[in-house]
Amino acid sequence: MESACFAARAPCGGRGRKTFPRSVTRLNLAAHAAECEENMLNKKSVDDINVKGKRVLVRCDFNVPLQDGQITDDTRLVAALPTIKKLIADGGKVILCSHLGKPKGEPKPELSLAPVAAALEKLLGQPVKFAADATVVGENAKAAVAAMNDGDVVLLENTRYRAEETKNGEAFSKELASICDVFVNDAFGTAHRAHCSNVGVTQYVDTAVVGYLMQKEIDFLGNAVNNPVRPFVAILGGSKVSSKISVISNLLDKVDVLIIGGGMAYTFMKAMGYEVGKSLLEEDYIDYAKEMIEKAKAKGVKLLTPVDTVVAKEFSNDVPFHTVGLGDIAADEEGLDIGEETCKLYADAIKSAKTVVWNGPMGVFEMSNFAKGTIAVAQALAEIDATTIIGGGDSAAAVNQLGFGDKMTHISTGGGASLEFLEGKELPGVVAANDK
Ligand code: 3PG
Repeated sequence: MESACFAARAPCGGRGRKTFPRSVTRLNLAAHAAECEENMLNKKSVDDINVKGKRVLVRCDFNVPLQDGQITDDTRLVAALPTIKKLIADGGKVILCSHLGKPKGEPKPELSLAPVAAALEKLLGQPVKFAADATVVGENAKAAVAAMNDGDVVLLENTRYRAEETKNGEAFSKELASICDVFVNDAFGTAHRAHCSNVGVTQYVDTAVVGYLMQKEIDFLGNAVNNPVRPFVAILGGSKVSSKISVISNLLDKVDVLIIGGGMAYTFMKAMGYEVGKSLLEEDYIDYAKEMIEKAKAKGVKLLTPVDTVVAKEFSNDVPFHTVGLGDIAADEEGLDIGEETCKLYADAIKSAKTVVWNGPMGVFEMSNFAKGTIAVAQALAEIDATTIIGGGDSAAAVNQLGFGDKMTHISTGGGASLEFLEGKELPGVVAANDK
């Protein structure tokens, strides 16, 4: 969680300093991003194939939160239903697969997909045969697939029980391909990974297409980024500049207004010459922030950073807090949310937007004392007549937890994937599907 990183100053999801392929310099970055986006927009989908009587392997992202074996949020299961239902209705033999957590190549019972099979049965209103197989494509899975009738559904075991999965190994990719005639990738949340079950397998099947969820995510994010109704406003928050460096640069080529909040704002404040006390600061990225400030000027993009900050002496909801103006953060205080004036400034900038993309909370929204900035931005988005797109992960969690979920046009099911999309990177899981 980004805001947890905000707290612990820990590397966020392993995302460190970004490096670009050697051929991609800053100068041709924009062209590279445009090319990557183009490569992902013209893929065959489930509407372009006939699956009657065929074995259809569907890669979903069923990486759902679990507590004591219970699924605590079934958003990703519900999001996968349109594709699954379509394939059932068309008479396909629907073989579902997904990863869950990080079992690191070992069968870990607590990361079995068995609870997902039970939940899907309820959501689909029909049996979902769970092929409990430590090797994923073992005897159970093969027997279950061999026994399928048209319209039946089988769920394979966690693909990450196999060590080759995350290495995109040949043997497991071939095994997956051997039990299907057609492959459908609907796992947008995993599309930034090149693994056997979303990329490798496509090399050994004739037909590899995308599902409705993948298509919807690419359409929303792609249209927002490449063809936005203007004014186009992007809001970036979360803990670190370092985790969003390519996003900031890529979006500055596209947006009219870029709003910065969350922990990353302090590196920008420092770059502008203001003291930030104990606030989260990435010294190594001050120059980068300066560069981005210059880039915004050169591009005529309005770059908004906080004009006031809610500060406390400790990272806690149980200590006194107050709001200070720009440059007034004391040496023993840390910024934990944007201040009231900043909320007004940001809400005002959002008011006239026609397209908004939001990724990352404005403060430590899990603590009520520091949730007001995130609430103000969510409220502003809820009130405008615009296409509002929320990146997955923490931004989606914030919007849903704060009760604004149904007010947004689209909430992405992919945290890392939506971020990489906004960076202008190719998503291997999408690129691997057949072109139209
Ligand atoms: C996610 O939850 O972001 C996706 O399912 C990808 O999971 P991963 O980060 O473990 O690859």
